[in-house]
Amino acid sequence: MSEYLPGLEGVPATKSNISDIDGEKGILFYRGYPIEQLAELSTFEETSLLLLDGYLPTAHELAMFDEQLRGNRRVKFNIRSLMKCLPPTGHPMEILQTAVASLSAFYPGNECLTSPEACEDLDYIHNMTVKIIARMPVIVAMWEHIRNGYDPIEPRSDLTSAENFLYMFLGEEPDPVLARIMDICLVLHAEHTINASTFAALVTGSTLASPYQVIAAAIGTLAGPLHGGANEKVVQMLDEIESPKQVEKWLDAKLKNKEKIWGLGHREYKTKDPRAIILQKLVDKLIEERGGQVSPKFEIAMALEAAAEARLAEKGVYANVDYYSGILYEEMGIPTDQFTSIFAISRAAGWLAHWREQLSDNRIFRPTQVYTGEPPRDYVPLSKRG
Ligand code: COA
Repeated sequence: MSEYLPGLEGVPATKSNISDIDGEKGILFYRGYPIEQLAELSTFEETSLLLLDGYLPTAHELAMFDEQLRGNRRVKFNIRSLMKCLPPTGHPMEILQTAVASLSAFYPGNECLTSPEACEDLDYIHNMTVKIIARMPVIVAMWEHIRNGYDPIEPRSDLTSAENFLYMFLGEEPDPVLARIMDICLVLHAEHTINASTFAALVTGSTLASPYQVIAAAIGTLAGPLHGGANEKVVQMLDEIESPKQVEKWLDAKLKNKEKIWGLGHREYKTKDPRAIILQKLVDKLIEERGGQVSPKFEIAMALEAAAEARLAEKGVYANVDYYSGILYEEMGIPTDQFTSIFAISRAAGWLAHWREQLSDNRIFRPTQVYTGEPPRDYVPLSKRG
């Protein structure tokens, strides 16, 4: 009998050269480059191309990719019409998943995937990748207006990905500090080895489904609160705590009750997630930018992190990427239920890099199971049952 490991802990699901984690030391690399250096020196556009192609692009390659992204932002008005039919109370991740899945119908072209050459057709793969990375932020921003009863704001091609997203979402051109903070957030969330949503993308990609369906599967997986949906939960959780003084009592009650503390813990990291360290510094930066006033939620979050560390460090449970990102987005004026959508528009780069890698040496995923059911037995006609 094969050994069953719940949650496939420690089971390699694929070979990959896209990113790597040292969970003991708290180190994350994209294509060998430490996340701290990429956060400081790179941009979302450059990091995406690094993830996709495997090397830091030349100035010309980066300019071409950037131009392609800027030129592919518009979506057909039928997609807007479709989104207008969805309930305004729908969660933005549900809307994003629906809209991205629908792109497959509005923009066909994936039939070629069934020809043996398509998996090696890097132009096809690159073009699909560009379309998805360019359009997901647009869809997220469109929904923010549609759900409030307004027509979406048209994308602009004179802005970077981060600037255009904030412009379309908030309705005004962002100041450069805000835009750079968003850009860094997109770099930080772009890739993270074989997590649940990337695994979902690989499994879906391995069936030669269209890349839109691959990304729709990944979006649905990211939405769960144990994965990307945790950033929304963190802010809701912090709202339950009135002041830093209440943190210890609140935490002890939760832990006694065996409840999760959102934004803490990670299968891979046994120390603080390096992305959480950078995000915490970004909250500091934003607060400093706004005259030094510390948001009460940030103070509560820091007090909770310290109290949790004293109680959970022995289990290797520390702050993860979702702990501080929500506070940052809230400070930027983004509604809580849109946090995970922002995670998704960035992670699309990683998902698509893995899709490409999967196609380059594809074999359909078909794991086995440990059967725990009844032994073979004869059917009992309805008239002879109990
Ligand atoms: N709050 C309290 N205790 C936690 C915890 C948390 N957020 N995360 C893990 N633990 C504890 C578990 O209760 C368990 O304790 P036990 O051994 O006494 O039973 C131990 O740490 C191991 O946790 P486990 O759930 O087995 O880890 P996992 O690898 O299966 O799960 C997560 C990883 C991320 C799903 C889990 O840490 C979690 O649910 N975190 C909160 C959700 C979250 O922030 N997700 C975003 C991840 S980036």
